Amino acid sequence: MRYRIVPALMIFMAMALGAQAQPRQSVWDGAYTEEQASRGQTFYQQSCGRCHGANLAGTFETPPLIGRFIPYWAGTTMDVMFDYVSTSMPLDRPGSLGPTANAAIVAYLLKANGFPAGTKEFGTTADVQKTISFDAAPPKTKKRAR
Ligand code: HEC
Repeated sequence: MRYRIVPALMIFMAMALGAQAQPRQSVWDGAYTEEQASRGQTFYQQSCGRCHGANLAGTFETPPLIGRFIPYWAGTTMDVMFDYVSTSMPLDRPGSLGPTANAAIVAYLLKANGFPAGTKEFGTTADVQKTISFDAAPPKTKKRAR
């Protein structure tokens, strides 16, 4: 019995170490490129602005994608927002945009909410998106506050 537990434990430890080795990034580290966000802005105006507003401020019936958008999504990883946008939006034609367009739109949402651009595009796959956390405040500020 004891000998069977050991390999299982080793596999578990290897997985834990592997997960730890993957750097956890934040949206404050530059999770998209300027060029990607500007493509996203075009997609946004075509497919989202009609309901959420050209300035992302929302309407009486449609939530804003700025302002309270940040605390609403805070604490999630970026795969969650990408998945929501990809499968539930545009509300009248959910899932009608492809992964590249949706990644560009999410990049635009990050830019519009004041998160900095970086040198690498926001990826289209969940395994990459999962490594990026959506933090309301830059990680350093957060640590100082607590
Ligand atoms: C036909 C109108 C309409 C269109 C077009 C539309 N949305 Fe929405 N969207 C809504 C409504 C209404 C909600 C609220 C849904 C709910 O609460 O279940 C919503 C919710 C959202 C949310 C969650 C907001 C939050 O913080 O609560 C996001 C993100 C979002 N939409 C993004 C998009 C994007 C990106 C597009 C374009 C690809 C888009 N929407 C197109 C109407 C629309």
